[in-house]
Amino acid sequence: MQSYQKLLLENKLWAAEKVEKDPEYFNKLAAVQKPDFLWIGCSDSRAPANELTNTQPGEVFVHRNVANMVVHTDLNMLSVLQYAVEVLQVKHVLVVGHYGCGGVKASMTNKDLGLINKWLRNIKDVYTKYEDELEAIADENDRADRLVELNVLEQVRNLAKTTIIQKAWANNQMPYLHGWVLDLKTGLIKSILEIQPGETDFIEKVYRYDFEKLKQAEEKLAEVYQK
Ligand code: CO
Repeated sequence: MQSYQKLLLENKLWAAEKVEKDPEYFNKLAAVQKPDFLWIGCSDSRAPANELTNTQPGEVFVHRNVANMVVHTDLNMLSVLQYAVEVLQVKHVLVVGHYGCGGVKASMTNKDLGLINKWLRNIKDVYTKYEDELEAIADENDRADRLVELNVLEQVRNLAKTTIIQKAWANNQMPYLHGWVLDLKTGLIKSILEIQPGETDFIEKVYRYDFEKLKQAEEKLAEVYQK
């Protein structure tokens, strides 16, 4: 049997097992999607959202890319974020990095890696921001692990800089933002920061949008046109 055929066979066994335990399992699952969590994690095969958190299908909305990045021009990530926040109305957005991340390690080298240079550039920018702290760490692996943590911190900050999150905070006080780091050696996730809804102090002033003023301006404009 080819390796991919085993996947399809395992899928049949898994589905049969679920139905055996609960004949209505897939009917219930197909009917509604209302997860409380958006997980933005690394594509690394050792960092699967559901297995790590012992959650079931339907519980976690997932987006993964190399080194769990929140890049403000990434339409893929932004589309997932908008849908999760505005339609699914998730209560928590989790940015989940992991120690030993290949993407983070690659960003610390001077190698030309082709197209992915452009993606890793975003992590290099985090490195530059914390250069003094990072270069004071002698051990290369320790330095990479610290950059993993700082990268998670900055990606949570990038979330808070989006109008998607800021509008949600202005309208309905959700979601909470979390920065987590997974230790592959123990399987344990460490929380490194939690941002309350509306905690805009967390980002520099220039990134904070003023929706109230915008609303007032729109109303004034509407009045002018009515006259
Ligand atoms: Co990784």
